[in-house]
Amino acid sequence: MKPALALALAAALLATLAAAAGVAVVYSGAYNVSATTQHWQPVYSLLEITMRHSVRLRARAIEPPALDAPQRIARGAVLYRDKCVQCHGGPGVAQGDIGKSLQPLPGPLVDALQRWRPREIYWITRHGIKMSGMPAWQFRLDDAQLWDIVAFVQRLPALTPQAYADLTQDARPPAALAENTGAGAEPRPALVSPATATASGTQGATGGDIERGRQALYQYACSACHTIPGITGASPNVGPPLRGLASRSLIAGRLANTPDNLVHWLRHPKAVKPQSAMPDMGVTEAHARDMAAYLGTLH
Ligand code: HEC
Ligand code: HEC
Repeated sequence: MKPALALALAAALLATLAAAAGVAVVYSGAYNVSATTQHWQPVYSLLEITMRHSVRLRARAIEPPALDAPQRIARGAVLYRDKCVQCHGGPGVAQGDIGKSLQPLPGPLVDALQRWRPREIYWITRHGIKMSGMPAWQFRLDDAQLWDIVAFVQRLPALTPQAYADLTQDARPPAALAENTGAGAEPRPALVSPATATASGTQGATGGDIERGRQALYQYACSACHTIPGITGASPNVGPPLRGLASRSLIAGRLANTPDNLVHWLRHPKAVKPQSAMPDMGVTEAHARDMAAYLGTLH
């Protein structure tokens, strides 16, 4: 047999095997579609890179209008509060339960300009992102409103929680915002079912469960702001990376790094540092202990 022919046969065989493996994955049900399990980091990164390039290509020809007018930014702030904050959070405001429970996790948009040009933010807002929870707004908002939102998102990095509250206070806060403050919140149901909870049983210094803590970090969307070893995500830098947390002497530059102080910080960051960009997220005592147990393993 000629070498070229042998090579072609081998390639055909490999392709057939790969196709068969693909069919097996699809039809066997082996792939777990649940949003409580994370993607593998390589799969996550692949999807993310594909999305980035797709958006860049499609937004190329869009010419942004002038985005500096204060009225435009003010209108954008109110639209953002009503349409975006429940999933992306805002300065001093955590995402709502819908946002926290999505996979991929929508992150805060305060650092969106590091990844996207204004025209790309416009494109994403208008068209949404297929196979993620990002809705398309084209049929709900007109073009001027879409640009109002882009104008506002451009201002996010400079906005303190107080400035955001001032910009968005004109109307009654929507239910999503009230829920996010954690004020008057009902005791929440356990994040993890008791069956899972007893399954791991590795205790950390806080009396919490390390594996349950890993899941809670994910389900509270901490990885939307922090890069956390062991949690799949986009390596955000809105909050400090939590690698090596256990070896730090202070938490948020304020509290001695003891397990109890860490639990306190996770539950009430605003009480420790009112102007902090880390929102109160309605974290329960038990979940805070679990998360602190996991964070205690990060040397
Ligand atoms: C129902 C939840 C939801 C709502 C509401 C929502 N988004 Fe999203 N958004 C997502 C998800 C999910 C992603 C994808 C995250 C990923 O792939 O990493 C996303 C991604 C984005 C991105 C790209 C983010 C990045 O950091 O790369 C932008 C920009 C964005 N959304 C803007 C908006 C704006 C503006 C609004 C309001 C008009 C909005 N979103 C409302 C869920 C939502
Ligand atoms: C909206 C973004 C955001 C979210 C969501 C968020 N954080 Fe933070 N986090 C921050 C910022 C910003 C800081 C720095 C705070 C400061 O020093 O004022 C911080 C600080 C911290 C610190 C102290 C780090 C250090 O080096 O001192 C820990 C620990 C922490 N966060 C854990 C968590 C956990 C656990 C969650 C989920 C329950 C969470 N964060 C959710 C933004 C966020």
